[in-house]
Amino acid sequence: MLPLPRQIVTGKARLAGVLGWPVSHSRSPTLHNYWLSRYRIDGAYVPLPVEPAHFVQAVRGLQAAGFRGANVTLPHKEAAYAIADDLDHSARRAGAVNTLLFQADGRIRGVSTDGDGFVASMEAEGLAPKGRALLLGAGGAARSVAAALQDHGMEVAVTNRTAERAEKLAEALPGLGVVPWSEWEEQLGAYTLLVNTTSLGMEGGPDPMFRPSLRHAARHLVVADIVYVPRLTPLLAEAEQHRLKTLGGLGMLLHQARLGFREWFGHDPDVDPDLEAYVRASF
Ligand SMILES: NC(=O)c1ccc[n+]([C@@H]2O[C@H](COP(=O)([O-])OP(=O)(O)OC[C@H]3O[C@@H](n4cnc5c(N)ncnc54)[C@H](OP(=O)(O)O)[C@@H]3O)[C@@H](O)[C@H]2O)c1
Repeated sequence: MLPLPRQIVTGKARLAGVLGWPVSHSRSPTLHNYWLSRYRIDGAYVPLPVEPAHFVQAVRGLQAAGFRGANVTLPHKEAAYAIADDLDHSARRAGAVNTLLFQADGRIRGVSTDGDGFVASMEAEGLAPKGRALLLGAGGAARSVAAALQDHGMEVAVTNRTAERAEKLAEALPGLGVVPWSEWEEQLGAYTLLVNTTSLGMEGGPDPMFRPSLRHAARHLVVADIVYVPRLTPLLAEAEQHRLKTLGGLGMLLHQARLGFREWFGHDPDVDPDLEAYVRASF
């Protein structure tokens, strides 16, 4: 990998960061500072470990200190939704905010970039969000991805271990179907896209024995996993066995970051193999 140029941080540097608790696992500082170096932008992006009880105080402090905004990760996405003065369409649909944009007049704009990041990662691989999608999971990531796929015209259904959570999601996103958790494998033939939005398959995740079966998949099924560590999750390994087209989760992570970078630092950054390799090397 090419060595990066030295970062420039002068007294006029543009500032942003990521609020989380904990935040040390976040790859956002790695990727934003990669882009800052690569585009020779006078700026810095820092991790901001903030306890939930101090979230509002921290956001007001960042505004007062001249930050341009911040990404927000667990457990603050709902608090970020609440503190925003203006919510864009993506945030309202996701019911959460992962990007705060501080405006010159003191107002805060809240955006959710996860769902559009997922769709952008599909499109970057030449995959069109068309047809019928089945999502495993009904948590925060499922809602963002389901909303974005619906907004691109897909028919979307979710299946979740805890049925009530799937039903609640269907209330929030009109038109969303619900498939019983015990039946999704048999019903797979009806779908063009399968997305794992649970933490199943994640390194150190909840069930090391998770071994989904894709034997009922249609030949054209695209199989995506938003988990990105490991690169080859159990779901993607099974998809490869069936010679199905696959999509890993790192692309979503990289694409969802572009909007914030553009707004804070004034440059539309590229997602390319060098960036992927750089971020992958940090795992
Ligand atoms: N690639 C990216 O950029 C990106 C972005 C956001 C999130 N993610 C990843 O997406 C995953 C989910 O994140 P989230 O924020 O949506 O979390 P969340 O709101 O806590 O939802 C977790 C989901 O996983 C399911 N789950 C957990 N353990 C399970 C088990 N043992 N068996 C079956 N289902 C189980 C939950 O089902 P129940 O409702 O039954 O508990 C729920 O649907 C995480 O791995 C996260 O790292 C990736």
